[in-house]
Amino acid sequence: MSQANNDITGRLVLITGASGGIGSACAAEFAKHGCDLALTYSSNKESAEALKHKLLAGSEKETTPLGNQLKVTIHKVDLASPEETTKLCEGVQKEHGRAIDILISNAGYGKRIRDVSFVPLPEIS
Ligand SMILES: NC(=O)c1ccc[n+]([C@@H]2O[C@H](COP(=O)([O-])OP(=O)(O)OC[C@H]3O[C@@H](n4cnc5c(N)ncnc54)[C@H](OP(=O)(O)O)[C@@H]3O)[C@@H](O)[C@H]2O)c1
Repeated sequence: MSQANNDITGRLVLITGASGGIGSACAAEFAKHGCDLALTYSSNKESAEALKHKLLAGSEKETTPLGNQLKVTIHKVDLASPEETTKLCEGVQKEHGRAIDILISNAGYGKRIRDVSFVPLPEIS
């Protein structure tokens, strides 16, 4: 049986919700491992662009494990829309010229619900 290859250096990672807190932290970690990144935002373009700028500036100072510049792209998408989600995947593959290796499906908004014994359907969907 062949061994699993867990070396992520140079892999292409799609991170949804990268304009938010957890998504941007994930992006920083994958960048440290020399991964190329496709980052999504829904409404907060400024955060996504600032993150891209920061990651590229960082990778200029510290050589990535492959010794090259990271490729980072940003994509606007509403993941509640199946059409936009399909277009996102096609757009990422076109811009990077290869298939996505890793998906971090992180986008979403949290909402604190104190009484979980009854949650109305609209709150779930
Ligand atoms: N933080 C916590 O304590 C916690 C706990 C449990 C679970 N989570 C989950 O972890 C994930 C990230 O949390 P976070 O704290 O980093 O949240 P956050 O800072 O509010 O970021 C949410 C991200 O999701 C994006 N997003 C929301 N709805 C979207 C949609 N319909 N289509 C595309 N993108 C959408 C936002 O895009 P824009 O800002 O660009 O609109 C943003 O990038 C969420 O799914 C959250 O529910 C968080």
